[in-house]
Amino acid sequence: MKLVLSSDHAGIEMRKWLVGKLTSAGHACQEVGAPDESSYDYPDASDELVNVLAQGQADYGILICGTGIGVSIRANRYANMRCALCTTEYMAAMAREHNDANIIALGSRVLGTEQALAIVHTFLGTAASQVPRHVARVEKLSAPV
Ligand code: RB5
Repeated sequence: MKLVLSSDHAGIEMRKWLVGKLTSAGHACQEVGAPDESSYDYPDASDELVNVLAQGQADYGILICGTGIGVSIRANRYANMRCALCTTEYMAAMAREHNDANIIALGSRVLGTEQALAIVHTFLGTAASQVPRHVARVEKLSAPV
């Protein structure tokens, strides 16, 4: 799969580690966001990732900040971006199956690296449900409020 990963300074170490593992697993990984560990605003990390996804340059996005909260709030401001903050493999599976999430958000200060990788693998390995009620609910997510 084509993936884009982005983070602020708090997430860069986990981002780099995940890029190594996901590349070894056969995924094509593009990185945007913080260039190093100096202070970097998490909304900017989300904006850069959404830009790549919106241009169709990646299938899924992975956003990382200290908690995963800030990056997910910002990503979900965009139409057609469904960003799910996940702390368990069950949440990652449901984010794909029921919510058709196209971005997963992770907290580098919440999860261990192996835990984060397992969550990402579950996310990438789960298909969106085609059951009509689930499809209809996902469509409602993009409806104007
Ligand atoms: C940075 O200190 C921290 O606020 C950020 O990584 C994130 O957790 C925000 O939601």
